[in-house]
Amino acid sequence: MTGMKKQDKYQSHPGIELQNRQWPNRKIETTPTWCSVDLRDGNQALVNPMTLEQKLEFFTLLVEMGFKEIEVGFPSASEVEYQFCRTLIEQNHIPDDVTIQILCQAREHLIERSFEAIQGAKNVIFHLYNSTSIAQRKIVFGKNKDEITEIATQGIKWIKSHLNEFNGTLTLQYSPESFTGTEIEFSLSICEAVIKEWGIDKKTIINLPATVELFTPNIYADMIEWFCRNTRYREAMIISLHTHNDRGTGVAATELGLMAGATRVEGTLFGNGERTGNVDIITLALNLYTQGINPMLDITNLPHIMSVSDRCTEIPVHVRHPYAGELVYTAFSGSHQDAIKKGMAYQTQKSDPLWEVPYLPIDPTDVGRSYEAIIRLNSQSGKGGVAYIMEAEYGVQIPKAMQPEFGKIVQEFTDKKGKEITAIDVWNTFESTYLTPNPNFQFKSFKYNVNEDETCEGELHAIINGKDLRQAGSGNGPLDACKAALNTIGVTLSVQAYHEHALSQGSNSNAIAYVEIEKDGIKKWGAGIHSNITNAGIKAIFSALNRV
Ligand code: KIV
Ligand code: ZN
Repeated sequence: MTGMKKQDKYQSHPGIELQNRQWPNRKIETTPTWCSVDLRDGNQALVNPMTLEQKLEFFTLLVEMGFKEIEVGFPSASEVEYQFCRTLIEQNHIPDDVTIQILCQAREHLIERSFEAIQGAKNVIFHLYNSTSIAQRKIVFGKNKDEITEIATQGIKWIKSHLNEFNGTLTLQYSPESFTGTEIEFSLSICEAVIKEWGIDKKTIINLPATVELFTPNIYADMIEWFCRNTRYREAMIISLHTHNDRGTGVAATELGLMAGATRVEGTLFGNGERTGNVDIITLALNLYTQGINPMLDITNLPHIMSVSDRCTEIPVHVRHPYAGELVYTAFSGSHQDAIKKGMAYQTQKSDPLWEVPYLPIDPTDVGRSYEAIIRLNSQSGKGGVAYIMEAEYGVQIPKAMQPEFGKIVQEFTDKKGKEITAIDVWNTFESTYLTPNPNFQFKSFKYNVNEDETCEGELHAIINGKDLRQAGSGNGPLDACKAALNTIGVTLSVQAYHEHALSQGSNSNAIAYVEIEKDGIKKWGAGIHSNITNAGIKAIFSALNRV
């Protein structure tokens, strides 16, 4: 047997005893209150924590996006954090409808310093936390449950003792840190002790963190539902979620937690944060948006949000990050490209706005991304993607019947190159295949008259195998007459297909023609561009002749 042996080093979570759980039958139908913890949890996890200027830039972005609750730091922990809080307040950076949140441990001098930091703010969430988990009680603190509860309730008493110094509105938030590693009954009992000490007549935010994500998201949801169902003080509680992403399921855990009864979410932009990060609020919000729910955040300019985040955190967003990554609106596989191309065309033709493009769960333009970037080409791409690029980038509408031939030529090029190719590469391939003059059959001019009976007589001037020739020919229309002129010098061909369209607007516009010919049993496509459509058609015949 290969792989890692089953062992007794790890054990699975026993799960939560929850009869008749309700959350699996629910849907998320309302937007939670978002609280950004970028400037605290996110910042504390950076290789280079943000400077005051970077924090200000980030704070401004969060306000512009519409966050109404923003954790601005842990002001009693360091001078930089303290100064940032003071700067926000003293320089009036906090809009009246935005509440700042500060984090603090249940220690007297830290609580005192925190009150100094928030002086002058209108609305503050005072976020008190202490660790409650089995492991921390045993290994870090060496304290029993009553002693851990005492830390929390003593913290509340100290906060209460400073309330008369503060003129703004203060909401209490309490987090039993490492909630996911704590017995659920103990989490409930410590939160209720806090609420009782603070006052059951006020709303308190009870934040239930997956400080470390330890199990599948359904167990987290069970914990949230169990907690909501079993507390005596549900009315006094705003249940808040704060998930980390250790198992890669922070978004799922948060979504199930909302179904289980929570109404508030703490997280960061693009999931920055300790270890594998906090839950990504951008993903959560756009997940809601794609279910038809207003996320109450402005994410219409993701490139701007990303550039501020990149600059301040110095952590680039991964190319495959949901909604935001450079490659998420790109399809390399031919069948995907083809379906997207058809979906896009269908989307612009139909009368209702419902988004129905295969492989794209969201319209890229809703988040400030563009269609042009959607299809990129590598050796997995097919004719559909090639045709899409030619049309989207150069206005060249390669006829359906010609697409397999050109698709194959591009595929050979990408195979040779061995990596992604650009739109310019595709254009260059088209140009060198169909448009570049070739001395074997070189078109110079075609002068013609159309008779009253619509027949046509003309003179073809061309260089054929190095010889400068002027040949007359007549037929049903200019192309037929040109074909007849070629026939007189032994070049026989039949035209199998013909397409044309204007390439650009205005009086100086060019036309492009595509012709498929059969000569000596061989079928080839050609293309020609000229300001005169007849000449474009004849150039296309010459292009095909050279290819035969
Ligand atoms: O992850 C966590 O538990 C925290 C707390 C301070 C809420 O960040
Ligand atoms: Zn955290």
